[in-house]
Amino acid sequence: LREHEEFTKVKNIATIELGRYEIETWYFSPFPPEYNDCLQLYFCEFCLNFMKRKEQLQRHMKKCDLKHPPGDEIYRSGTLSMFEVYLNSVVDLTFLLLFFFFIQIDGKKNKVYGQNLCYLAKLFLDHKTLYYDVDLFLFYVLCECDDRGCHMVGYFSKEKHSEESYNLACILTLPPYQRKGYGKFLIAFSYELSKKEGKVGTPERPLSDLGLLSYRGYWTRVLLDILKRHKGNISIKVRLEDGKNKKVVHCMDWLPVPHLEQMRPNVGQKWPHPELSDMTAIKAEDILTTLQSLELIQYRKGQHVICADPKVLDRHLKAAGRGGLEVDVSKLIWTPYK
Ligand code: ACO
Ligand code: ZN
Repeated sequence: LREHEEFTKVKNIATIELGRYEIETWYFSPFPPEYNDCLQLYFCEFCLNFMKRKEQLQRHMKKCDLKHPPGDEIYRSGTLSMFEVYLNSVVDLTFLLLFFFFIQIDGKKNKVYGQNLCYLAKLFLDHKTLYYDVDLFLFYVLCECDDRGCHMVGYFSKEKHSEESYNLACILTLPPYQRKGYGKFLIAFSYELSKKEGKVGTPERPLSDLGLLSYRGYWTRVLLDILKRHKGNISIKVRLEDGKNKKVVHCMDWLPVPHLEQMRPNVGQKWPHPELSDMTAIKAEDILTTLQSLELIQYRKGQHVICADPKVLDRHLKAAGRGGLEVDVSKLIWTPYK
């Protein structure tokens, strides 16, 4: 208990002002020591610089030249835009000596932005260690845009190279925008990037309660939508410890087991059915736990089968909540980070 108190005791900043909103914070965030005595901080909603006094912010707004996050706009649909902010353009482009000076400024600006974003996000994230080297991450910042500029709604971060196949490190929807489907949009977006990379992905653990709820909802909806529409068999490739793939077979109408046996490929042969993680970029383990928690996986005569009775699927889909905002993949213009 003591440790827990230690960890959560000083919620240093009580409220922040960001754009049109004054937002109550949830958790401690390690702002630099000179902000120790502040109860409220004033953020520039575009560059995320934070200040102690409102007048400072007003002065800043007159000279701040940003109207959107400092990065590439990789998605736009209606008033929604997604910006990719990457932080080490200095290293990547040093050979362009002539432009070095300007690029360095750019790289630095992005780096400060990334750090500010981490300070801001930690106010709403309990258990995450956010203070790794921001250079190793990409930030995907979702904005609602109008004639005054692009207003941040939420973001997720992603490791440039993940050995554990993480496709998302931290996710946040700012409180005034929560429960409107943006969280599921951000999650869906992270999987669309994985599909473009030709990889499967999973969020970094641990997940917060709200994070888990959002992911469960997303996984359930995506997987059950496929099971509902799909005709014929479908499989999940699950890696066992001996390296072999365990096959889980979807049977639409509870096909009798002998029939499934016939469908079984010989060892080493490619599995002939469509495979759920290939289709969704969701890691097979997450597919299994989702379907297991819905009691859709059963063990019958030595075979795992997915039971996909349309009525049962509909019931679960209803319980999984609203679909969230759709990602229109045709509006995503992006090439994977090399
Ligand atoms: N109470 C109950 N259920 C909730 C709540 C809530 N307050 N908030 C979200 N949910 C559940 C609901 O099932 C909801 O679907 P529904 O509205 O259709 O019922 C679903 O989660 C997702 O709702 P969205 O509107 O798509 O998500 P939102 O924009 O609210 O963002 C998020 C979800 C990002 C988790 C947000 O709550 C948040 O930023 N929380 C603080 C930071 C955090 O915990 N991040 C995750 C940490 S784990 C990680 O980073 C890997
Ligand atoms: Zn600014």
